[in-house]
Amino acid sequence: MNKMKDLRPIIWNDNKKELILIDQRKLPHKLEYFVCKNYKDVAYAIKDMVVRGAPAIGVTAGYGMALAEINGDDIYKAYNTLRNTRPTAVNLFWALDRCLKAYNEGRSILEEAKKIHEEDIETCKKIGMIGEKLIEDGDTILTHCNAGALATSAYGTALSVIRFAYYNGKKIKVIADETRPRLQGAKLTAFELNYEGIPVKVITDNTAGFLMQKGEIDKIIVGADRILADGTVYNKIGTYSLAVLAKYHGIPFYVAAPLSTFDLKSSEKDVIIEERDEKEVAYIDGIRIVPEGVNCYNYAFDKTPPDLITAIITEKGIIKPKKEEILRLF
Ligand code: MRU
Repeated sequence: MNKMKDLRPIIWNDNKKELILIDQRKLPHKLEYFVCKNYKDVAYAIKDMVVRGAPAIGVTAGYGMALAEINGDDIYKAYNTLRNTRPTAVNLFWALDRCLKAYNEGRSILEEAKKIHEEDIETCKKIGMIGEKLIEDGDTILTHCNAGALATSAYGTALSVIRFAYYNGKKIKVIADETRPRLQGAKLTAFELNYEGIPVKVITDNTAGFLMQKGEIDKIIVGADRILADGTVYNKIGTYSLAVLAKYHGIPFYVAAPLSTFDLKSSEKDVIIEERDEKEVAYIDGIRIVPEGVNCYNYAFDKTPPDLITAIITEKGIIKPKKEEILRLF
């Protein structure tokens, strides 16, 4: 197996007691770091998408709580500020609740945050090792947004499956949807795969259907921001359209996600789909492309029903998006 380059978007500096994040807003042009010295810096980093991707947001928020503890801040205020950064990815709330529980039980929040971080690395590795068995030599795999190392602590979820297939010698090609409006596919997925020499081509989001029709896509793998007990998957806007197209064309549609992305308590009415500033749609590189006075929708996520999903790849195995199978995992 070739040596995998280890891209780590979240680094805890124990000497200086500070959190160092790859500033994902600057990629792919600059690899710069954003340093957080308190929980407010962390809240800003999550909200402004210095760091993004469900597992990465959770790990980062954990360190936000740890910084509040280190700086002697009001832990509940930090908890609430961090909770209110982004509403859809459940990993954020999962990690914050774990840290608050540690605090209430008199345990160190920093130790809990480090544990969440280490677990995420192991989890993503397992997802890759388990999921890569679904990939065949010669496959062309379509992915959406960035469910890679940059969206987690290392390896990624969907991209971990792709990485392990590649490093196990399977000759695969990746097609990355550009993922309007934030362009996580064009900027981040293309960056991290290219960084490792994994063959990747970027398409506009509306090219996906045409490639499927031409028979050029063998499999689709995406990540998730939240999965309900019935297998409903919330992920980056555009995921649902891909799943519908996949069904029509008979292409397997896989979701790769850790157990920390499952939300067994909520139902559809409880899930808030983040709506971001419409300027993200109206402007490209600072230039307005939509006529003045015309409004835009900017939903960040959408909902894919379980009947469109072939299987969910987790660190505990591959399951069908069915309640019995999901509950068995827990
Ligand atoms: O808005 P983002 O960039 O945070 O959205 C990220 C996604 O939708 C990812 O697919 C999801 O978080 C899974 S990351 C392993």
